Amino acid sequence: MKAVKIKYLLNESAKRNLIYSVKGWVRTFRANRFIALNDGSSVENLQCVIDFETFDESKLKLITTGAALHIEGLLTKSLGSGQKVELNVNKLDIIGGCDPEKYPIQPKKHSLEYLREKAHLRIRTTTFASVMRIRSSLSFHIHKFFQERGFYYINTPIITGTDAEGAGEMFRVSTLNLKKTPLNDFGNVDFKKDFFGKETNLTVSGQLEAEAYALGLGEVYTFGPTFRAENSNTTRHLAEFWMIEPEMAFYDLDDNMDLAEKFVKSVLREILSNCINDLKFLNERQQKEDLSKPSSERNQMSLLEKIKFVVENNFVRISYDEAFNILRDSKPNKKKRFKFPISDWGSDFQSEHERYLVEKHFKCPVIIFNYPINIKAFYMRRNDDNKTVRAMDILFPGIGEIVGGSQREERLNILEKRITEMKINREELWWYLDLRRFGSVPHSGFGLGFERLVQFVTGMNNIRDVIPFPRTPQNASF
Ligand code: 4AD
Ligand code: MG
Repeated sequence: MKAVKIKYLLNESAKRNLIYSVKGWVRTFRANRFIALNDGSSVENLQCVIDFETFDESKLKLITTGAALHIEGLLTKSLGSGQKVELNVNKLDIIGGCDPEKYPIQPKKHSLEYLREKAHLRIRTTTFASVMRIRSSLSFHIHKFFQERGFYYINTPIITGTDAEGAGEMFRVSTLNLKKTPLNDFGNVDFKKDFFGKETNLTVSGQLEAEAYALGLGEVYTFGPTFRAENSNTTRHLAEFWMIEPEMAFYDLDDNMDLAEKFVKSVLREILSNCINDLKFLNERQQKEDLSKPSSERNQMSLLEKIKFVVENNFVRISYDEAFNILRDSKPNKKKRFKFPISDWGSDFQSEHERYLVEKHFKCPVIIFNYPINIKAFYMRRNDDNKTVRAMDILFPGIGEIVGGSQREERLNILEKRITEMKINREELWWYLDLRRFGSVPHSGFGLGFERLVQFVTGMNNIRDVIPFPRTPQNASF
């Protein structure tokens, strides 16, 4: 008999009084009688009831938390109160035993820090299974959003010679012998002898290549891994993360902001209707967690309320200038409560400032546009004031920056000037400049940090808990 997924048996429409076969892992085994079985398909377990008198002692002993079982039984209305149906076991095979003394995932609350060290097993907890099901669904609905609008999915290279963001935070890719690196006549490492005959690194963004494809296919998007060797040990940074980068020909900055807002709202709406059981579980989890915090640190809205709020309300759009004025005149700035006081126009906002704007001042997502030229990447379109560029960042409550994007500089002479000013290696960008030579058009795009979106939807505080095997400074296990 072919095994069915537990979620179908727990569904209202599952036919009762029929024999079903299921395969999964034991979450708990109570009173030598009740097995809570989970196969990853649902947040709830299936209660499987055995008549222990018909089982020999040695087999009963093997039904332990973590063991993998194959069970056949009759689906009936449950006599207990915790569940609607249960499976009365006729046949039970132990597929894989599990030593309960040594199994790291006990049927009790483990800290997230502890579970990070057991990242290969943490998926067997209810919390991680819910987070990862939502992650998977988000990724599907992201593709669906773009595919339904005629965007083409493109795969940009992971190994590149360019530093798209110009921030110098790259992981080198090399096959040179570290103990005996070849040197050139100037005493520097001779990358001509390296695998690609030049210096290469893992990409920090697929944007530049996506631009090339947008200027031929019209509207494209990437969804791939990106790598940043920034030494920031925060709850919002990974060294390896996934980014969605749409790029659109003939879009200006307003079109870009409109698309980004519509996109984020649309995928959140899909998750509300497709992952509601997982969301309800995580909602409750967050509420329980809040109870153990001082009231000032508790969430003002529940997880579900927060997601609905973002879906239903317009994002506030303000220029850097406006944001700067609000922050400069704000109470925490005047009372010197910001770690980084706001005084001079032109400096980048820190996360304390972003949080103030989003969580205290506007109490909703905020898009800031027209940033000072000196704090943004070389490719952003210069405004006529010569001081600002057509950049935009979307800031979310509890997350900070979730999207970064811009209208691109499509004018060859201005782009060349900027590259020189910023002392960027122009030779690497010859092909990028060609895009401005041959049929250049206004175009725009943005990057959404996938894990930050998963964080927002699941309410997980630490970004390390929304990706299966996180990579952070000093940590690349598994
Ligand atoms: O603002 P960023 O650096 O923008 C770009 O890379 C552009 N090339 C995007 C584009 O216009 N096509 O990064 C975009 C987003 C950020 O807003 C943030 O959500 C996420 O990527 N991000 C990170 N997420 C996790 N860990 C990190 N270290 C991240 N750095 C950026
Ligand atoms: Mg950014």
